[in-house]
Amino acid sequence: MRVFITGASGHIGSAVVPELLAAGHGVVGLARSEASAAALKSTGAEVRRGTLDDLDVLRDAAAAADGVIHLAFKHDVAFSGGFEAAATADLRAVETIGDALAGTNKPFVTTGGTALLGRLELGRAGTETDTIDGGPRIDSENVTIALAKRGVRSSAVRLPPTVHSSLDHHGFVPSLIANARKSGRAVYVGDGANRWPAVHTLDAAHLYRLALESAPAGSRLHAVAEEGVPFREIAEAMGRGLGVPATSVAPNEAAAELGFVGAFIQVDNPTSSAHTRELLRWRPTHAGLLADLAERHYFELR
Ligand SMILES: NC(=O)c1ccc[n+]([C@@H]2O[C@H](COP(=O)([O-])OP(=O)(O)OC[C@H]3O[C@@H](n4cnc5c(N)ncnc54)[C@H](OP(=O)(O)O)[C@@H]3O)[C@@H](O)[C@H]2O)c1
Repeated sequence: MRVFITGASGHIGSAVVPELLAAGHGVVGLARSEASAAALKSTGAEVRRGTLDDLDVLRDAAAAADGVIHLAFKHDVAFSGGFEAAATADLRAVETIGDALAGTNKPFVTTGGTALLGRLELGRAGTETDTIDGGPRIDSENVTIALAKRGVRSSAVRLPPTVHSSLDHHGFVPSLIANARKSGRAVYVGDGANRWPAVHTLDAAHLYRLALESAPAGSRLHAVAEEGVPFREIAEAMGRGLGVPATSVAPNEAAAELGFVGAFIQVDNPTSSAHTRELLRWRPTHAGLLADLAERHYFELR
């Protein structure tokens, strides 16, 4: 297949592109800068210059492709207080690509997060059939699923908050480590029993390929290798890596020290991927989060 990918130059895209090329697919990656274009070209992918706001570019590139994977997200905007604006741009991109693919039965794989299930307070692991009616980013997932009724083989991959590997240079794990290095302690809230699901970047990339190749129209998929790692154990592994203590703090102290991430580290987000594994025969094989942290590459990042 000739596959158009947004976010091809990012952390997860940089694993999805080689995964697709190695399986014999052609890749056309969206690049918004010369640096991203050069990085993409060096992998053997073709480049389509443009941004998420260039809806004509997204429409044309999607129409010319045999399938689309959407990974780009305006993290720069989202992390500077513009989360809703970034989510709106994401929704426009999903709608535009979806319109271009309508009636073709081509695959369209989009990206969301498992963390949204944390707010449902399910009292059990979240599953692929748990949904939310609407909201920023969630609307993109729901539009993706609705495209199944318009002749698109659409699927939405929910990623856990920690997609981890040596390719991860600015996700939650590196930013928590940078903070712990600065403050001299790795914090968790209360008893730290709240759980974060996790997946290795290479396992997530493999799932994107399986979704592209064979997910049935309208599938919600969980790229979750570990259902839930207690956050206290994550903080302790970071503390060990840096030689600083792991410390329990009150919720307001976490917010003061970590900003919005302080609220995020309190989320209890156990998530099942049983349905995804069965549907696509996806079997994660790479290191778990604590083993990956023990490999030390995160602590060598500056
Ligand atoms: N990493 C995680 O742990 C995690 C967890 C849950 C969900 N997700 C989601 O997974 C997706 C991929 O994440 P990631 O970790 O790979 O992110 P990333 O490393 O920040 O990469 C983001 C990608 O989007 C591109 N991009 C950003 N703004 C753009 C714009 N205005 N126009 C065009 N392209 C733009 C970036 O291009 P440049 O190379 O030019 O910057 C880059 O290719 C995102 O939707 C993210 O929210 C990630």
